[in-house]
Amino acid sequence: MERLQKILAQAGVASRRKCEELILSGSVQVNGETVTTLGVKADPAEDSITVNGKPIKSESKLYLMLNKPKGVITSATDPKGRKVVGDYLPGIKERVYPVGRLDYDTEGLLLLTNDGEFANLLTHPKHHVPKTYLATVKGVPHGSLLDKLAKGIQLEDGMTAPAQVEYQDVDEEKKQAVITITIHEGRNRQVRRMFEAIGHPVTRLKRVRFGELGLLNLQRGKFRHLSPKEVQELLGLARKSHNVHKK
Ligand code: URA
Repeated sequence: MERLQKILAQAGVASRRKCEELILSGSVQVNGETVTTLGVKADPAEDSITVNGKPIKSESKLYLMLNKPKGVITSATDPKGRKVVGDYLPGIKERVYPVGRLDYDTEGLLLLTNDGEFANLLTHPKHHVPKTYLATVKGVPHGSLLDKLAKGIQLEDGMTAPAQVEYQDVDEEKKQAVITITIHEGRNRQVRRMFEAIGHPVTRLKRVRFGELGLLNLQRGKFRHLSPKEVQELLGLARKSHNVHKK
């Protein structure tokens, strides 16, 4: 027996938190009875579980890494008809959803899965999974400004947690610099806002690492499946990061 929201998330319905909302809103039925509280357990092998009357699927789990190009929306559909990440997953029939998001203008490493539990663990704010970006910025920031970013900087929604920040490339002629920055949070447009706060706006942003997983030579617009070992390593890291930050 498992908690209903966990079963739904594992079946790829949505993230665990979204599934809780579905239950509370009366969209989920077990053996024909609508369940509206969160403590209920069920057995996916025995019980008939439906969401708005539709049986949930027991899909195999998929874990994908996409090198998202710039100008693509991290969502399943876009009312404005812009390109979405699903357009870059030919042959994938399962409904996968992104693990966190990258802005429309940000490129690079994006994980996608139909395992709601996995997505939840890796994106939960308390798990602090490190994410590394290459940020091309206007002008060449002084080292003391990068130190500020590394220590934590005040944004509208509070101080940022410590980050690792290094020069990758400095082009005095073009008046720009490429900075490697590793953050342990996932606030909206965080990297862009951090560089804006020191007066060096980002002109190009690429995520190159998620946890221990690097983008390496995956071509822009291409995806690959993660190996079971990579999946386990990510889960291990999420749990470990949680414990380290709890102390
Ligand atoms: N930080 C940003 O500013 N944008 C992203 O897409 C990811 C992190």
